[in-house]
Amino acid sequence: MELSRYIQVLRQRLWMVIACPLIAALAAGIVSFLLPPVYEAHVSLYIKPAQPISSIDPTTGQITSDQVLRTYADWMTQRPTLDSVDTQLGLGLRYEDLLKKITATPQPNTLLLDVAVQDTNATVARDIANQLVADFIDTVKKTQAAATQGANAQPVDNLVITAPAVTPDKPVSPNKTLNVTIAFAAGLLLALGLAFLLDYLDQSIKGDDDLIERLGLIPIGHIAWIPVGKGKRSELVALDTQSPSSEAFKALRTGVLFSTIEQQLKAIVITSAETGEGKSRTAANLAIALAQAGHKTLLIDADFRRPSQHRIFGKIRNIGLSNLILQDATESDAITSVDGVPNMWLLPSGPTPPNPSELLGSPRMLEVMAKLWHDFSYVIVDTPPVNAVTDSAILAASANATILVVEQGKTTFPALKHAKEMLERVKANTIGAVMNKVRASSGAYSYGYGNYLPSPNGHPAKDRAASESERESHPAET
Ligand SMILES: Nc1ncnc2c1ncn2[C@@H]1O[C@H](COP(=O)(O)OP(=O)(O)O)[C@@H](O)[C@H]1O
Ligand SMILES: [Mg+2]
Repeated sequence: MELSRYIQVLRQRLWMVIACPLIAALAAGIVSFLLPPVYEAHVSLYIKPAQPISSIDPTTGQITSDQVLRTYADWMTQRPTLDSVDTQLGLGLRYEDLLKKITATPQPNTLLLDVAVQDTNATVARDIANQLVADFIDTVKKTQAAATQGANAQPVDNLVITAPAVTPDKPVSPNKTLNVTIAFAAGLLLALGLAFLLDYLDQSIKGDDDLIERLGLIPIGHIAWIPVGKGKRSELVALDTQSPSSEAFKALRTGVLFSTIEQQLKAIVITSAETGEGKSRTAANLAIALAQAGHKTLLIDADFRRPSQHRIFGKIRNIGLSNLILQDATESDAITSVDGVPNMWLLPSGPTPPNPSELLGSPRMLEVMAKLWHDFSYVIVDTPPVNAVTDSAILAASANATILVVEQGKTTFPALKHAKEMLERVKANTIGAVMNKVRASSGAYSYGYGNYLPSPNGHPAKDRAASESERESHPAET
């Protein structure tokens, strides 16, 4: 994975990378705030061995100061001492619970034993610490007294309190800053891990590399994500010849025209794997771009399932393709010109027939197409999704070229692969794919497309200016 790919993954899931650590830190903050504060009282105990450690009888083996301190530390926290502390202070705690509050730690390289006691009450912590050490010194003295009563009495260890416990004024936990920092870091790590895992599991197509390497499709155009504006015909972004989106469709037009140099292109089927990927909008704008270049272009809405070109162009569809196939209307009745776009004509779907696939596969449809090929330089055919119905495969089989529209970040590999295979099966000439709804934040193709920022009303600023001037020249449209 290259560095740019890492950055892209992070940019795509930026909300997660930001939100996760913030939520974790907030949760840690709230929990730390709600947890009762814990205080810690300390007593320091000096343990003076009966004789210097080094002079202990060599036959008994070497005893180190550490061993002595550890012995006392263990001894101190045994049941008899703790039970006695509990009784004296009237705590009413179980041995195990009291034990959890106490830690006796030998201080390295010294003869000092640090006894720490934690409790949510500072005074109780102090009292337990002092009582514990006092009781323990008593126990040790009693034990030693019993041992030294014999004939060969031995010198005994001496235990001295060097610093008694005082009431702690600051709690040791919860450490709010530390907890929040740790939670933030953990949240960040989790978010990063999750972002890369999701990216790995994500089957959607994100860039040209995916198209070329995994599907063998040639990318012939990239259309930025442009939200639909409020006005009529606002999806026809190619109308404003100065806008970056119009440039994108001109580039697509060039890509289409260059993709089949040796063969003369006539009918181009625009399809995609699933619905909503932008077939209709792409077909409409590509047709406009072709007409703008002076080619006599016809856009046919052959999607009987969800016809939309009449809506996109602000027309009615009462007479259209279905009437031509059924021979109950003439071409001049069904085909309309497009205001503001010389050289362009539209053939809406017409009334929806009950059997669209049969109609589109009928010899009569071939006749209609042959006639239209003759009359126009380019015929762009908007179709239903390949994976849903056979209509587009039928149309693609008889057209010169087929273009697959791919919605960036949404169309998945399996879906597109299936669509491509369906088209291969009918020997359609798939000339390539158009990457649609390319978002600037995706990091891909940002040059020339990413600078296209929509204005607050959803209309790109330049497009709005264009649609205003267009309204002036075509008052009937508004
Ligand atoms: N480049 C784009 N940017 C933003 N929205 C888009 C783009 N292309 C298409 N859309 C929107 O996506 C929706 C589906 O588009 P459409 O062309 O009707 O898809 P299809 O014909 O494949 O079902 C429509 O609302 C359309 O406005
Ligand atoms: Mg459509």
